[in-house]
Amino acid sequence: MAVKKIKEGIFEVGAPHYDRELFDELIPLPDGTTYNAYLIRTDGETILLDTVDPVKTERLMKNLDALDVENIDYLISHHAEQDHSGSIPAVLDKYPEAKVLTNKKCKGMLIDHLEIPEDKFQVVEDGEEMTIGDKTFKFMDMPWVHWPETMVTYLEEDKILFSCDFFGSHLAVSNLFVKDKKKAYLSAKRYYAEIMMPFRTPIKGHLERIDDMEIDIIATSHGPIYDEPEFILDAYKEWVSDTAKPEVVVPYVSMHGSTDKMVEHFVDHLTEQDFKVMPFNLTTTDLGELAMALVDASTVVIGTPTVLAGPHPKAVNAAYLANALRPKMKFASIIGSYGWGGRMPQTIKDLLKSFNGEFIEPVIARGHPSEDDFKSLEELADKIIKMNDGSEGVEG
Ligand code: FEO
Repeated sequence: MAVKKIKEGIFEVGAPHYDRELFDELIPLPDGTTYNAYLIRTDGETILLDTVDPVKTERLMKNLDALDVENIDYLISHHAEQDHSGSIPAVLDKYPEAKVLTNKKCKGMLIDHLEIPEDKFQVVEDGEEMTIGDKTFKFMDMPWVHWPETMVTYLEEDKILFSCDFFGSHLAVSNLFVKDKKKAYLSAKRYYAEIMMPFRTPIKGHLERIDDMEIDIIATSHGPIYDEPEFILDAYKEWVSDTAKPEVVVPYVSMHGSTDKMVEHFVDHLTEQDFKVMPFNLTTTDLGELAMALVDASTVVIGTPTVLAGPHPKAVNAAYLANALRPKMKFASIIGSYGWGGRMPQTIKDLLKSFNGEFIEPVIARGHPSEDDFKSLEELADKIIKMNDGSEGVEG
């Protein structure tokens, strides 16, 4: 049993998953994750907020037993993704009187994904306040963090925002509240980069909506929770802002060394001028680290050789990711090599279709880079530095 008390009558009853390695069979989880669920006792009723991934149902049930929960009146479901909703059917089997409180869209998705019967639901509206016993619950729709149906709950008397995925981190630690701020910051940034970054625009609106609320605790559904909400609110405000940092991210791959030499020369030239550059060898890099670098960087330069008339598949993957994550980057370019032909640069450009910044002329070498190619790389680096300097939307 590992129930954690937040305040009188308010408990965390979810489950850590220390050894989970991947999410969505895609996102690496170097620190595992947690599925936080919360139990609130008012002066008469019992309310469960979210559940856990189905692989951890037993743990949730043990936690409820440890608190001698004999009856659940309401089960608030913020998000239909199964890491929070997947144990709802088991909870409803054990506590058949529980009403599932959620918005209309989430209700539909819970029926679709989990076949929960229609009569189990009570739909709540955006902004609705509901008094249950001596506590007031305010429900707020927060679509696109990161699914379209997500909502959050504000517990007014205790000033706790139950934010579900919003502000979360894939970080399995035994402490309830954030202790190691540096680690928590990096984990939350990784989570933002991989999951929330494509939705920067709606997230900005959500941050504005909660800006004047009195919040003492942000209780997320992943990772340690925040008893200093400004810590994570300030971080999010910076990440979603339109202002990029003068930094160059270089995801690259090389087969026979030509692209490798070009990347090295390009990176060295930037470094000599004290301009921040972050190369990522795509054969070994953790894509989460690459995504984190994309949160702030003004510039991305993809390095790739030509394979079967196009970019190396690992560079295709990186370009696809950079396009899908919709970072705030302002400038992009390509460096690389070819043996006898192909349309590698155009294929990369086509992949970056959501990028609406400025493309800088690529530097492409035929075979081993020549002295002229190395000079062109220096010119590309100089141009990037100049374009960043004083550019609107890039930090000065
Ligand atoms: Fe943690 Fe979107 O589920």
